[in-house]
Amino acid sequence: MPELEECSGYNYLRETAYNRATIKTIKRPAIAQVPAFKKYPEAEKVELPRNWRLSEARITPLLQNRRSLRRYLMEPIKLEELAFLLWASQGITAKSGAYSFRTAPSGGALYPVETYLSANFVEGLPPGLYHFDVENFSLDRLNNEDSAAAVAAACLDQKFMAQAAVSFLWSSVFRRCMTKYGNRGMRYVLLDAGHICQNLLMAAEAIGCGGCPVAAFYDDEVNSLLQLDLGEESILYAAAVGKKEGAKGAQCNL
Ligand SMILES: Cc1cc2nc3c(=O)[nH]c(=O)nc-3n(C[C@H](O)[C@H](O)[C@H](O)COP(=O)(O)O)c2cc1C
Repeated sequence: MPELEECSGYNYLRETAYNRATIKTIKRPAIAQVPAFKKYPEAEKVELPRNWRLSEARITPLLQNRRSLRRYLMEPIKLEELAFLLWASQGITAKSGAYSFRTAPSGGALYPVETYLSANFVEGLPPGLYHFDVENFSLDRLNNEDSAAAVAAACLDQKFMAQAAVSFLWSSVFRRCMTKYGNRGMRYVLLDAGHICQNLLMAAEAIGCGGCPVAAFYDDEVNSLLQLDLGEESILYAAAVGKKEGAKGAQCNL
């Protein structure tokens, strides 16, 4: 569609796509490094308490224990657990007029991010590629092929993805957001994806799983695996999820 190609936001995404043929020759601009922590040496310090009472909040261990996990138990996750992860990342939680609000915020409540799954070890779900139908809280089966190896290959051959119980693949339908916000909409699309992924990682932690965000992929290879309508929709972000070794008492109480 010509209008999208006139957007610098859209072109930025295309220009920064990884491609198997060119990835080794990408020239990065020489940008000087800065310290990892910003300091205000002259400023008066206000020490923060470390024994705050909210440490008993149920989210605290999830935040504390979350780490990007790249080794998984060779154990399937249950379909109920997958459903919980999908709900936690993109489920509808409230309706108001034309809006269906979700677990994760979205700029302008426009929800430009679509969720796809590469199911690998999910009890009761044949391996393959699926699309999450948010409105009906169901999965659309896209194919029945064992897609985990192909997804890992398309993600810069990151082998751990093939060992995960399931990989989440998030794309953006640009027009949903950019029709309203133009170029600035690209910021919102990327921010939305971050929220969704973090929700997923917290939810995974809550059920004895772990996940690893993945943004290193050959864009067009993932797009073509998902058979996305190029120019309209493109992969943005992904995450592999699987059972975590030694996760105690983890269960899905829905
Ligand atoms: C935007 C983004 C992209 C990432 N892409 C990858 C990836 O492609 N492969 C990978 O193994 N880890 C990836 N990670 C995970 C980071 O390496 C990880 O978050 C970082 O090392 C900090 O460790 P932690 O997540 O355990 O706190 C990504 C993380 C983010 C936020």
